[in-house]
Amino acid sequence: MKKITFLFSFISVFSFAQQNPTGLVTSKAMVVSAREEASKIGAEIMKKGGNAFDAMVGTELALAVSFPFAGNIGGGGFMVYRKANGEVGSLDYREKAPLAASKDMFLDKDGNVIKGKSTETALAIGVPGTIAGVFAVHKKFGSMPMSEILKPVIALAERGVAVTQKQEKSMNSYRESIVKINGPTTLLATNFKEKDTIKYPALAKTLKRISKNGRNEFYKGETAKILVDYLQKKGGIITLEDLSKYEAKWRKPLQFTYKDLKITSMSPPSSGGICLAQILKMIAPYDLAKMGHNSPEAIQIIVEAERRAYADRSQFLGDPDFVKIPVKALLSDAYLKDRISTFNVDKASLSSEIKEGKVTYNESTETTHYSIVDKFGNAIAATTTLNDGYGSKYYCDELGFFLNNEMDDFSAKPGSPNMFGLVGNEANSIAPQKRMLSSMTPTIVEKDGKLFMVVGTPGGSTIITSVLQTILNVYEYKLSMQEAVNAPRFHHQWLPDLITFEPSTFDNNTINKLKAKGYLINENPTPIIGKVDAILILPNKDLEGGADFRGDDAAVGF
Ligand code: DON
Repeated sequence: MKKITFLFSFISVFSFAQQNPTGLVTSKAMVVSAREEASKIGAEIMKKGGNAFDAMVGTELALAVSFPFAGNIGGGGFMVYRKANGEVGSLDYREKAPLAASKDMFLDKDGNVIKGKSTETALAIGVPGTIAGVFAVHKKFGSMPMSEILKPVIALAERGVAVTQKQEKSMNSYRESIVKINGPTTLLATNFKEKDTIKYPALAKTLKRISKNGRNEFYKGETAKILVDYLQKKGGIITLEDLSKYEAKWRKPLQFTYKDLKITSMSPPSSGGICLAQILKMIAPYDLAKMGHNSPEAIQIIVEAERRAYADRSQFLGDPDFVKIPVKALLSDAYLKDRISTFNVDKASLSSEIKEGKVTYNESTETTHYSIVDKFGNAIAATTTLNDGYGSKYYCDELGFFLNNEMDDFSAKPGSPNMFGLVGNEANSIAPQKRMLSSMTPTIVEKDGKLFMVVGTPGGSTIITSVLQTILNVYEYKLSMQEAVNAPRFHHQWLPDLITFEPSTFDNNTINKLKAKGYLINENPTPIIGKVDAILILPNKDLEGGADFRGDDAAVGF
């Protein structure tokens, strides 16, 4: 891995021309997702004449079959699109807190957070949004019948999916907690090995009913009844009323510029777009390309911008249907210039001394990402999640899917970290029907008025900083799409006040230079940071896929 780091430094110092593509290149259409099976289904839909929106529906549901770790119908997500005519939009199919949820539901009588209650109990489950999401997309933009889109997905569930080496490892590490909740006869209790085929007959049956009866099958029909029955038995609080009230929401995406790029990303209830915009605007005055890729100087300025953006996230961001968010103030050039002005190149700022900025409210008032471009020029970035790997681990055997534990994305108590170490405040407190704040950052980048890149990733709090680095890798450091995805990543999120580096990817010299300036480094063994799936539009209009080697991700196109 060290060699890779040196290679990237070499590229950044000696060459400013965009690198030749190193990922899959196709001329018309492409899907990049966490599993080849899902990318194939999406690409096949487009080959048959379907558009990117049809492919989105197929890919999202094919991930629910082939990638139960995060693909889902028991969770939710966000989708950002840019149509061939330049029109942009976004869909929020994030989970919601049930009607019976309450602000202090994860606290004991002394007001302390009860460990595991927001992650490992049936109370952790938010009202799922994925089925509402795919039907909303299909209704607005779909061109193929839903039954035709669902056919290959149902066939995949019936035929089964081969276990990969990485999947075997992931199932091994989660088996005990899955069995603890669901008992020894649940599907993933079996000790599946690499190359075994897992069939998903219960999920196939559920999808068949959805194909026949439509969206309401999940929210009001037999599936809804079975699900509520199951959840109530497990001590959950989601009711039929919760399900029948759920709606996905079309929202105005967040748009901003970075140098000559126009970036469209997710607005609240995801923090992704706002944080990405704040960080990019704070670092824009610095010559990152000259500093060098992953050089101590570049890491330093990016970390300081991240620190300040995540401090604001913690204070100001939440569900816009419940809290007023000072978006304009948070993104104003003057505010961000002032915010980064305390950065001292010789010495690390301390998170204990950085609080949220002063803004005035003067407004008018374990996840997976996939990227799609179709032959018409429409583009889709979608990130979808159960939160933790296999979500809450609650798996409804009869329906064949896992339920999320997204309630942990709320701030259970001001200042108390969630599973990603993120702290929050009143803006992200729990309330019935409220959406929990997310970091998901499905993003579409334009250059010179044309589609340039489609990008996103899982990774909890590291999502925003992984998307950021991927954009910078291509734009500032001229890496190919695949190289930009491969490049080692680092992360800072204000609290804890630590820089995390991907395991053994940064040389000691870089780390020591940062330490000498007072930066605190996360020395614990750390997991990978992000699993980016992206598409770059090359100057001759070909598409280059960047599929993350950190997972089983694959680009498929034609
Ligand atoms: O919405 C969020 O920010 C989190 N629930 C995402 C979780 C995630 O990315 C887990 N994947 N590694």
